[in-house]
Amino acid sequence: MAQTVVLGVGGGIAAYKAAALCSLLTKRGYSVEVLMTANATRFIQPLTFQSLSKHPVIVDTMNEPAPQEIAHIAIADRADLFVVAPATANLIGKLANGIADDMVSTTALAVTAPMLIAPAMNVHMLAHPAVQMNLEVLRARGAVIVDPGSGPLACGYTGKGRLAEPEDIADVIAALLARKVDLQGRSVVVTAGPTVEDIDPVRFLSNRSSGKMGYALAEAALLRGATVTLIHGPTSLAPVVGVKMVPVRSTEDMLGAVQAAVSAADVLISAAAPADFRPRERLEHKWKKSGGTPTLELEPTPDVLGTVAANKTANQVFVGFAAETRQALEYGRDKLVRKNLDLVVVNNVLESDAGFGVDTNRVTLVGRDEADEMLPLLPKHEVANRILDKVVDFFNQANEQP
Ligand code: CTP
Repeated sequence: MAQTVVLGVGGGIAAYKAAALCSLLTKRGYSVEVLMTANATRFIQPLTFQSLSKHPVIVDTMNEPAPQEIAHIAIADRADLFVVAPATANLIGKLANGIADDMVSTTALAVTAPMLIAPAMNVHMLAHPAVQMNLEVLRARGAVIVDPGSGPLACGYTGKGRLAEPEDIADVIAALLARKVDLQGRSVVVTAGPTVEDIDPVRFLSNRSSGKMGYALAEAALLRGATVTLIHGPTSLAPVVGVKMVPVRSTEDMLGAVQAAVSAADVLISAAAPADFRPRERLEHKWKKSGGTPTLELEPTPDVLGTVAANKTANQVFVGFAAETRQALEYGRDKLVRKNLDLVVVNNVLESDAGFGVDTNRVTLVGRDEADEMLPLLPKHEVANRILDKVVDFFNQANEQP
């Protein structure tokens, strides 16, 4: 049976683009049921959506086209995904605060399916702290926010605020509806990126980790229904929408953030490359050349994963990475045992298509009981899903045990 997308259309000029979205979704085989606010009908007629979706369009909460059901409850129950596009500042405010005074916001309260919100408004309205706070509230509740694009706006301004392109929204919808939700109710902590150890106020020690593998893991876990915290060193990657982002700088900071998050977590995936050494002393002022050639004395940083894995409980699954340049499998196996892990993802970072900075990875999964699983060269998001498949296997095996 076709999956149902309930599309709530808000009263903004971008409402006309919602018709294109509705058309794309029906062409992709979804059953689309459209709800509109009264203001939305001033920009575009309900008949347009009815003709495209082949379903009645409801604007008035008190209008009950099917007497055997209560429309806003029945439609909410049918939804596999609730989409609000365009989401105006007013509608976002109502959704964040539980106000139910029109068909879209009333139905939204009865929906238990995931929610996708595509805002569209003037650049200053979007930047207003009230709107940003409301979006943050919705995001924290698990809604996926599809960021507006930049360009000329109907109000005459040029800036961020125009509704994301219908094709892009449709792609996110397809990804959300196609996902396996086998991590629903699980809390996943991921570490990513390098850490940075300061030498003086302008110089530091770090490494070449881009953070791509960890970010891919966070995104994949989110799409599979988990609540995700991503603890990351400095990277140039965009934040993962819907994930709790915790930025850190040094390995010591990363340890603190992981310790704070891990006791409530079901899963820890340590994809970060924390700096292993730091200067014994951090200089308060810039090191001057006139002072001669300096000698940098280093000391080890804490092992983040090793420290927290020592207190791992029987219900938790911990995954580590082993970035190696030789004897990868031996070193990987050693890390599995030494750091008290359930799985180690081993890769040789000297390979040009695996490791730092690239979008692909070639890894071997090393577990405790099974044979090593050597994966082919895959995009990092696919590697992420293979790792999560293993994590889900651990939980399934634990459930099967008497
Ligand atoms: N790791 C960590 N804290 C560190 C160093 C590493 O949590 N200070 C984690 C990494 O995120 C990875 C695993 O430990 O999941 C192995 O990292 P790797 O750099 O391969 O190994 P190291 O533990 O640093 O050991 P070695 O340098 O001997 O290879």
